[in-house]
Amino acid sequence: AVIRRSDYRAPDWLVPDIALRFELDAALTTVRATLSVTRNGQHDRPLRLDGDGLVPLEVRVDGRVLDQAEWHLEAGALILTLPNDAHQVETLVELAPERNSKLMGLYASGGLLCTQCEAEGFRRITFFPDRPDILSRYSVHMSAAKARFPILLANGDPVEQGEGDNGRHWAVWNDPYPKPCYLFALVAGDLACNADRFVTMSGREVQLGIWVKEADLPRTAHAMQALKNSMAWDERVYGREYDLDVFNIVAVADFNFGAMENKGLNIFNSRYILADPDTATDIDYDGVEGVVAHEYFHNWSGNRVTCRDWFQLSLKEGFTVFRDQNFSADMGSHAVKRIEDVRILRAGQFPEDSGPLAHPVRPESYMEISNFYTATIYNKGAELIRMIALMLGPERFRAGCDLYFDRHDGQAATCEDFVRAMEDGGGIDLGQFRLWYEQAGTPRVRALMAHDPASGTVELALTQSVPPTPGQPEKQPMAIPLRVALFDRATGTHHGDELLKLTQAEQRFTFPDFAAAPVLSINRDFSAPVIVDSDRSQADLAFLSAHDDDPFARYEAMQQLMVNVLVGRIGGQSADDAAVVDAIRHTLTDSTLDPAFVAEAIRLPSEAYLGDQMHMVDPDAIHAARDALQHRIGAELEPLWRDIHARLRANGFSLSPAAKGARKLRNAALHYLVASGAADGPAIAFDQFSQADNMTERQAALGTLANGESAERIAALDIFYNRYRADPLTLDKWFQTQAFAFHPGTVDLIEELGRHKDFTLTNPNRVRALYGAFSGNQWAFHHRSGKGYRLVADCILALDPINPQTAARLVPPLGRWKRFGPERAGLMQAELRRILDRPGLSKDVLEQVRKSLD
Ligand code: ARG
Ligand code: ZN
Repeated sequence: AVIRRSDYRAPDWLVPDIALRFELDAALTTVRATLSVTRNGQHDRPLRLDGDGLVPLEVRVDGRVLDQAEWHLEAGALILTLPNDAHQVETLVELAPERNSKLMGLYASGGLLCTQCEAEGFRRITFFPDRPDILSRYSVHMSAAKARFPILLANGDPVEQGEGDNGRHWAVWNDPYPKPCYLFALVAGDLACNADRFVTMSGREVQLGIWVKEADLPRTAHAMQALKNSMAWDERVYGREYDLDVFNIVAVADFNFGAMENKGLNIFNSRYILADPDTATDIDYDGVEGVVAHEYFHNWSGNRVTCRDWFQLSLKEGFTVFRDQNFSADMGSHAVKRIEDVRILRAGQFPEDSGPLAHPVRPESYMEISNFYTATIYNKGAELIRMIALMLGPERFRAGCDLYFDRHDGQAATCEDFVRAMEDGGGIDLGQFRLWYEQAGTPRVRALMAHDPASGTVELALTQSVPPTPGQPEKQPMAIPLRVALFDRATGTHHGDELLKLTQAEQRFTFPDFAAAPVLSINRDFSAPVIVDSDRSQADLAFLSAHDDDPFARYEAMQQLMVNVLVGRIGGQSADDAAVVDAIRHTLTDSTLDPAFVAEAIRLPSEAYLGDQMHMVDPDAIHAARDALQHRIGAELEPLWRDIHARLRANGFSLSPAAKGARKLRNAALHYLVASGAADGPAIAFDQFSQADNMTERQAALGTLANGESAERIAALDIFYNRYRADPLTLDKWFQTQAFAFHPGTVDLIEELGRHKDFTLTNPNRVRALYGAFSGNQWAFHHRSGKGYRLVADCILALDPINPQTAARLVPPLGRWKRFGPERAGLMQAELRRILDRPGLSKDVLEQVRKSLD
């Protein structure tokens, strides 16, 4: 069954209030729901309450028990015909949380009971019209055995609690803000609290709680600080204040994605809460900060203003990612954050946009909405907001946001509502810009610059095209904001940066007063999520890598310089490695640069990114070329690497930006030093591994060793395993490091690790650490034997009956077969067909596999 955006109809019945009573128990929970329902408009259609796997033990209307003939089930939903315009409908159901392996609805994780309702999990808890445009006030009564579940949490504010019979106790929570059911949450368990407080800008005191297993309490400080910083930031930057007396966060070990913004009760994958220097890398710390902020920001962009239907998902996700990106930039380095975010976009969204699963930021149809929590909805969606913000400038963008929040507070809105608020509040015409929501595919912009010495004018000819994507063979030209600057070759400066608005298929821009041909810097700060092709020479790129004052553009010039050399090498041409080595040397020795930026700039483009630059991907050739260049860079600059590695050794651990930057650059130096082939490379890496007082350096050293063949490799993996075997989040790193390794034996190792006693399909983090990481390791996954494809397909088949959402997320790498040569393509298609042949496949996996084969 395909759901279409054009099929949207206002709900037949509304549910202004709901009261829930939970008798909680891991084996058998009962849920009694009392819904006040009101007819919406004039019609005689029945009330339809969605259900997934539920059996009503009792149905009452206005207190009277209905007999079997008065209701029926249709595709899991409970259908009732109601005579009047307002009724009380009551249902009773039983659940078995500990048998819920899908981790949607009410489930058990490590002795806790918790919920996940977005997108359509509430229907696995009780009968309800499970759609985001039904906003209800919730009152929740929960009871449980006090010894096993001493803490009882739900949305909103705590109202009452007490002791019951047989060692049970109970609590009542009320949420005064009407909300869609996907924001419902409860948690019961033996939890300890990191408690703090925040005083809002209007002077209200909010009790903050981060709830974890007692032993994890020391690892919650960073998350708490991130929460308080987020609250202050949203007040300062968007004027948005928190609106309840309590804000709780719970960390759980088994979770399908990062975290969930349930009103007043965020539930997190523990990997985005827990951090200490011994077990978390700097990237993990930043992940905690970013996700805590993301979920907190949803309180306005998502909860106070929610989505009318799931086609509007990017309304809350794209906007909230944009908000968390800017928050993280303000907490650290804008330059580095932008580089990281673009790298993530290119690694995750560009491939999606050029493959069989391409879809617009506002999709037109879906089979399973869970499959649409994608890089396109999230990250490309964020880029759309960023372009609007860029075109408006900060004040007018803020005015547009104020109007949006004001106008739609308490409503379920659409992407169109957001765009209109930006037009009305910001004073801009976004007519053509709306195509960004409609058209899938990454636009390509070709930029050719010509200089006329006689007149002194520079002409920049820009052409754009948007590639065809599934269901969208023809595309219209988009509105593309491009920041450009023209650099004087002699002075290394420019006369200011301009925002060009490319709106036509072909457009020319002229710039007067250039005695000599300048160097073009374009798409500065990555002002638009497009691919730019230009005819800039390696010399021009080297110039920009040394002089561009826009850090992103400077990084980008360096990357393009490297890509050109590598693509040349892959194509069998003799390439000018020296240009890359010189640019890296220059960057390393420029003392004005932030070490964190340097570490980004000197990093070679990933094998997958190189593959994306080619029509036919040859993973072996890419690996060989990149490996050879890395070796050359390592060897030619060996003294520099040694010096940096020795010099940046810290004296004691700190999370300051300077300390993080130093670790990042030091790890890059170690990596190149080992790549140089220096005889003492593995020993130096092992030394770093053993002596590090933090996971950033320890894991980097382990990763470097895992690529090669050495006694140190085996020793380090062993030591790491024995040290962290009892700590699941850290043990994930042991699996992940091996799955990412550039090692000829990786594909066989994956098979072994899949049978390891610590591997389990029931924990999504573990599955992602092994198979998710492996399928992102281009060289290993695309092993010419096809074994990598088989292992991932086997995992999908085994996981689908347990957890279809997580299984479906493993499908996309197999769907990229068109880009690989006929042999690999054949093997990949065969695995997709083998999956498709399995009877009883979930619709999650079915949708992804079918689309991937098209
Ligand atoms: N809204 C959550 C977030 O902030 C993610 C929910 C994902 N749900 C899903 N069915 N995939 O990003
Ligand atoms: Zn989100």
